[in-house]
Amino acid sequence: MRILLLGTAAGGGFPQWNCRSPNSLRAWSGDPAAPARTQTSVAVTLDGKSWVLINASPDLRSQILANPALWPAQGLRHSPITDVVLTGGEIDFITGLLTLREGHAFTLHGSAETLATIDANPIFGALPRDRVPRHAFELDTGFEVLPGLAVTAFDVPGKVPLYLEGQGSLAGRRGTTVGLEITGGGRRVLFVPGCAAIDDGLRARIDGCDILLFDGTLWRDDEMVTLGVSAKTGQRMGHVSMSGPGGAMAGLAGLRIGRRVFIHINTTNPVLAADTPERAVAEAEGWHIPVDGEELHP
Ligand code: MLT
Ligand code: MN
Repeated sequence: MRILLLGTAAGGGFPQWNCRSPNSLRAWSGDPAAPARTQTSVAVTLDGKSWVLINASPDLRSQILANPALWPAQGLRHSPITDVVLTGGEIDFITGLLTLREGHAFTLHGSAETLATIDANPIFGALPRDRVPRHAFELDTGFEVLPGLAVTAFDVPGKVPLYLEGQGSLAGRRGTTVGLEITGGGRRVLFVPGCAAIDDGLRARIDGCDILLFDGTLWRDDEMVTLGVSAKTGQRMGHVSMSGPGGAMAGLAGLRIGRRVFIHINTTNPVLAADTPERAVAEAEGWHIPVDGEELHP
């Protein structure tokens, strides 16, 4: 199995377009220790010819341009992207679907909840069902997305997409936010770009995996408040933080995980710069902070 990290930043990217927090300023200035990043999405393949896109970020076009493995490879019109699997309906997970509109056929997989959200928005009619069939996956039930490559989606604590916050409970229903277990070639990879809390069920699922790609939105829950850039905490956004007693590093410590990798990292998170004390702590805890374009081989 090959996993291409197309983008590693949270919604907004790094530097976020309107952000001048100290961290973002380093990226704006071109500091090589704080390289710019696009919004989180990964592509997975077994044979290097057919690729499954996991989430379609607003940066998808630039991500394709930056990764020759995803360029058209035959005939007049072609893309190696055969399938797109969604973990939710967040803006940073779905808007790249509109980049895939020019006649290409692929299958769109998501929870019934997420596909209903997409199909309620007429703009996604640009991906007609006869060319882009929707497959609503059952939670906790594996399906084969490519020959030999299986995906099982599971519910994780999360939040409804930003644009649906005014319409009821912030937590959403079952299927609003899912993680993916991806198996193939004898390997097991977990992809969880958004997660509001870590419980025993999640720990059990993660235990023993070859690679974990996990929500690394904020270093501290109150990071954006303290910086003065937003009134929102990580919890309010549906994201567990990296550090602290309830954080991802503590919550997942002790599990058998081949490689721990943070993704979906927010523009304010100090681990984005290679020389910060927070980066040193995360690495000492065994976590890898990847860059865009990195390829992982579980
Ligand atoms: C999130 O992960 O909290 C969202 O991507 C935020 C957003 O859509 O701006
Ligand atoms: Mn996001």
